[in-house]
Amino acid sequence: MEAVPLHRIVGQLARGGPLGLVEDVGRRAQGAVARLELGPFRPLLVTHPDHLQYVLRDGAENYVRGAAMWDALGRLTGSGIAGEGAGWLASRDILRRGMSGGYLQQSGAGIAASVEQGVEELAGLARRQPVDAVVQMTRLVHRVINPVFFGSRISAEQCDRLGKDVATALGALLWRMAMPIVPHRVPMPGDRAFLRATRSINATLLPVIEAARREDDAGGTDLMSGLLRGSGADGRPLSDEHVSQDIVALFVAGSESSALTLTWAWAVLARHPTVVAAIREEADQVLADGPPRPEHARKLAFTQQVMAEVMRLYSMAWAVPRVARKDDHVGEVAVPAGTTLVISPYLTHRLEEFWPDPLRFDPHRFDRPAVRARHSMAYLPFGDGAHQCVGQAFFAMESVLILATVLSRYDVHISGDPRPRLAVALPPRGRVDLTLTPRRR
Ligand code: HEM
Repeated sequence: MEAVPLHRIVGQLARGGPLGLVEDVGRRAQGAVARLELGPFRPLLVTHPDHLQYVLRDGAENYVRGAAMWDALGRLTGSGIAGEGAGWLASRDILRRGMSGGYLQQSGAGIAASVEQGVEELAGLARRQPVDAVVQMTRLVHRVINPVFFGSRISAEQCDRLGKDVATALGALLWRMAMPIVPHRVPMPGDRAFLRATRSINATLLPVIEAARREDDAGGTDLMSGLLRGSGADGRPLSDEHVSQDIVALFVAGSESSALTLTWAWAVLARHPTVVAAIREEADQVLADGPPRPEHARKLAFTQQVMAEVMRLYSMAWAVPRVARKDDHVGEVAVPAGTTLVISPYLTHRLEEFWPDPLRFDPHRFDRPAVRARHSMAYLPFGDGAHQCVGQAFFAMESVLILATVLSRYDVHISGDPRPRLAVALPPRGRVDLTLTPRRR
């Protein structure tokens, strides 16, 4: 096992910032379990696919959410989908059903129509002047998730406000996530911003939930309807608070990660004109028969590979913590009960053993024979095991339709060549600007 002493952590933080530190630890360990010596907090970093197979699948019942990030997050997202145990299971089953292949088939036309509308709004804004990619990808993602999460219960403006409040609350929790040993009763920076943001979230969500209950409006295919119809392990309906916190958890899990992944896609494409040309060639064939439709997503095979490679290099879930319930071993390394394990898809996706020349962007890494030949746990942008992302198929459809629709219609000028910055996800350090002009053929 690689032990990373505090003085090296501090030195590397000063040289390369938090992300530089994470990358340095991953590069040196190359898949070995590494222990970060952060005083009383000594988490183990687990990145090798064999170890992930054990922690997330074969031995998963010993590795649960808790402590570190999850305790802090629980103040915002409660103990439903973002938790563990009975509350999580009830929400997980409802949301998995709600996002299943069947749902996507049923509601795919609506999703594709939202993409079409969102892309045209983007083009209207980005034609006259450069626009901030993070802001506009967030807006576009909100247009697409609004009907999926809420049916037609909230306006675009309410959805944007909710997204902003959730982002503020999450940002305010960063201190607590970074210092998990500080008890909740001890005040910390961010507490007031957190309170303000959660009050605003409740003021938006709770009346919508109460009205839906009063008017018996839970028959839709949207996720809120599913949660309103659903029940917990005791057979009783989920409380309004549980439904509300699950919706917040969906925003936490699905909004910023999607918007930032799309932003990184544009930033990467700016450096790879041949990849843009290949997406266009595919999009011209697949989308030749009119506006985007759900079945197009399946046919946009190369665009899917591009998104897969974007998510390899820019894994928004750069740290997914678990806590060991009982004494155990991961590989040769002893894991005492109570140890925090940090899984990092970001670092696993950079292991040279599985990803030769790991920093090179190459969508052909996802050609079928290459995927078959690789360790199945070497790629996990959506996690794995019981907690695997419920929005994976939805994001796959949404993102390829967005990329292909934009590139089939517009010339995209992208400026800014940022590095990622470590936060809850991986936002760019500095702006990425987009300008769209109708395509010259
Ligand atoms: C690029 C986009 C996305 C990325 C990178 C991503 C990544 C992840 C990861 C790594 C996990 C596993 C967390 C864990 O193991 O503890 C996860 C879980 C989850 N994701 Fe996503 N996600 C994305 C989009 C979405 C979307 C669009 C939705 C909503 C529709 C969503 C909903 C969820 C939920 C509800 C969970 C928790 C599942 C559970 O604990 O059972 N995600 N996601």
